[in-house]
Parts: sequence; structure tokens; C-alpha cells
Amino acid sequence: MNVTKLLAGRTAYMRASEIRELLKWATSDVISFGGGMPDPSTFPLEDIARIAAYVLENYGNKALQYGQTEGVPELRDELAKFSQSNGIKASAENIIVTVGSQEALELLGRLFLDEGSTIITENPTYIAALQSWRVYRPKIVGIPMDDNGMRTDILEKEVRRLKSEGANIKFIYTVPTAQNPMGVTMPDERRKHLLEIAEENDLLVVEDDPYGYFLFDNITVTRLKAMDRSGRVIYLSTASKIFSPGLRLGWVIAEPEIVRWFALGKQALNLNTPTLNQYMLLEGLRRGVIQRNIPKIVELYKKKRDAMLTALESYMPKGVTWTKPSGGMFIWVRVPEKIDTKEMLQVAITKYKVAYVPGHGFHVNEGEGRNTMRLNFTYSTFEQIDLGVRRLADTIREFL
Ligand SMILES: Cc1ncc(COP(=O)(O)O)c(C=O)c1O
Repeated sequence: MNVTKLLAGRTAYMRASEIRELLKWATSDVISFGGGMPDPSTFPLEDIARIAAYVLENYGNKALQYGQTEGVPELRDELAKFSQSNGIKASAENIIVTVGSQEALELLGRLFLDEGSTIITENPTYIAALQSWRVYRPKIVGIPMDDNGMRTDILEKEVRRLKSEGANIKFIYTVPTAQNPMGVTMPDERRKHLLEIAEENDLLVVEDDPYGYFLFDNITVTRLKAMDRSGRVIYLSTASKIFSPGLRLGWVIAEPEIVRWFALGKQALNLNTPTLNQYMLLEGLRRGVIQRNIPKIVELYKKKRDAMLTALESYMPKGVTWTKPSGGMFIWVRVPEKIDTKEMLQVAITKYKVAYVPGHGFHVNEGEGRNTMRLNFTYSTFEQIDLGVRRLADTIREFL
């Protein structure tokens, strides 16, 4: 049967994720710097086993039943407390629990985007956010990045230009802390500027914050949501990198009116986030499992980042440059212009047994970033980091 002819027009804008395609290599003899996977040793396995048994014994049927679309009330309270410890003033009515932050990204598209709406993002930006939103056919305007994140001086000019053209700007999307894919962090000064621009032009800001919990080198920043005085920041976070990505738990913090819209959108998507998992996160927070896990993750990932930076320094040929991430999971690498990292990937995988994510897909416009790639430094072991970077350097040399 020819299914293709039955598919909706919007499927033409669904692109296969290069990251997903790559995940399957992670189990072979290929060293994968591809997916954004945590080091599995950071999963508090024994605590989670105890919590799972406790939740079933103590919450019983409640944990196995359908739940409120906004989330388990006790968890929303607990997430409000957790957020307060991260500088964000919030109460339960500001919070909706989602199936990872990914669901929140999808809901943003459903709630805000029409064909021809304008959204502003960092360029490069998180690939799966672009994937979620492209099906709604918005105009995506990318703002260049430097070592301090989004160039807000350019943002200011772009907003002015777009407004003068009558654009309907729906939101500015940013991953201000340990950005995916570049690993860079926006200092507070620039955050203030971003919010000033949003204030002056009455714009919503989406702050996507999976990595704000693990910054290295004693860097501290203030979350945009903590600086938000007019309820214009929609904050997204997740338990994926500090507890377990397999539980698929994230949350949104926003004005109650925005939370209500998210709940309406979520009802049609999945009614509620798995109740059992929500109770497990509740217990993980109540017992301090997550709070104790975070400093251990920071210590391990800092060492892994340093190991990858050392390996890059030792093995990469001249003309290759990379970011020094302030946190998170990724290093962003630029190779000489003549190399197309997507074309090189097949050789990297089949001949040299190393994988990465080609950078092109993180870019807003066709043709950009063909000589870039994203390397994950958290999943591989220290030995694999050294050997994998050596293999990658050999691959690049073959293409020079
Ligand atoms: C910037 C960013 N946003 C959102 C997500 C989605 O994470 P999850 O759905 O696991 O919460 C990720 C995952 O890597 C990410 O890097």
C-alpha cells in the first residue's frame, strides 16, 4: 500500500533526526559523541529502586491511576520549592509537568504558531526545537552566537527590523546556560539586555534550561525567569540530566494563564504525564536524591569536558577550532570550510569508528554550518574520549 500519498502536507517538514539515527551506533564498536546522553553512572539507580518500591507501596492505586493534566499536585508544590532554591519565585499554579521538555517544545508550537508566524532563536540552536516547530511553518529568524551566547546587540536590531516589516513575533527562544549545541553561557549583563528588548517590544521569551544545574569552574548566572518582572518568560526544565531521561519528566514554569493553555494543549496530546513517574520524581526531590546528585554530576562532567578538551588540543590538525563549554554536555567544533561534516560522517563511522552530530541541522537556514559538528563528552568513558578524538582527528586529516 502507498502510504506516502495519504500523508498530511506537514509531514514534508518533518526531518529525520540525525541524532536519533546516530543513537543506534552507540552500542556497536563505534565510539559515539553523537546523542545527548548522560553518563549512566549518574543515574541514582539504587535510590530509584527504593523509591519505586516505596511509591507503589505507599501511593498504590493513586500512582497507577490517570492524573491531573497539570501534574500531581504534591509534585507541583515540590517543583515550586526546588525552583525557589534556583532563584525562581513560583507556586504550584505556575507549574505544569510535561513528558520531558520536549513535550513543552511541541506544545509551544501547537499553542503559538500559525503558518507565517515569526519566532526568533539562537543560531545554531537545539535541533529538536527546530524539528518541533518547523511543521507549523513559522518564519524562523536566527540570531548569531558568540562565546557569551546570543548576540543581543544583533537581536535588538533584528526585532526592530521585523517589527517595521509588521512581523508577528511569537517568542524568542533561548538556551542561555550551557547552550545546546555550543556549550556557551550568557552572562547576566546580556540576560538583562535580552529581557529589556523583550520588555520594550512586549515579547514572550522561552528559556529552555536543562543544563543550568551543572556549570563548571564556579560560574554563576541568574536564570532569566528569576529576573522576569512581567511574566513574559516561559521557563522549561527537565529531570532528564539530573535524575533519569528514561522517566521522561520535565516541567514548565509560567504565568497561570499560560499554564492553562499548556494544559489544554496537553489534554489532547496525552492527558497527563505518567503518574507513577511523577511520584518517583516527587520522592527523588523530597529525599534530596536529586540535590545530592547534582554536585557529583558537575564534578564528573567537568573532568570529562577537560579530558575532551585535552584530547582535542593533542590530536586535532591545524585549522580546527572548538568552544570551551562552561557546562552542559557538548563541545562545538569548527573544521576548515572545505569539509562537509555530513559527508565526512559516513567515513568517520565506517572506517574510523567514531560518530558525532553534523552541525548543519542545528542551523536555521539551509546551507549554514556545513563545516561544524557537535561532540557530546558525557556519555563516553575517559578512554573512549581520548581514543574517539584521536580517531576523529584522523578522519579530518583524511579530508583536508
Ligand atoms: C536544549 C534542550 N531542550 C530540551 C531537551 C529535551 O530534553 P527532555 O525531553 O529529555 O527533557 C534537550 C535534551 O537534550 C535539550 O538539550
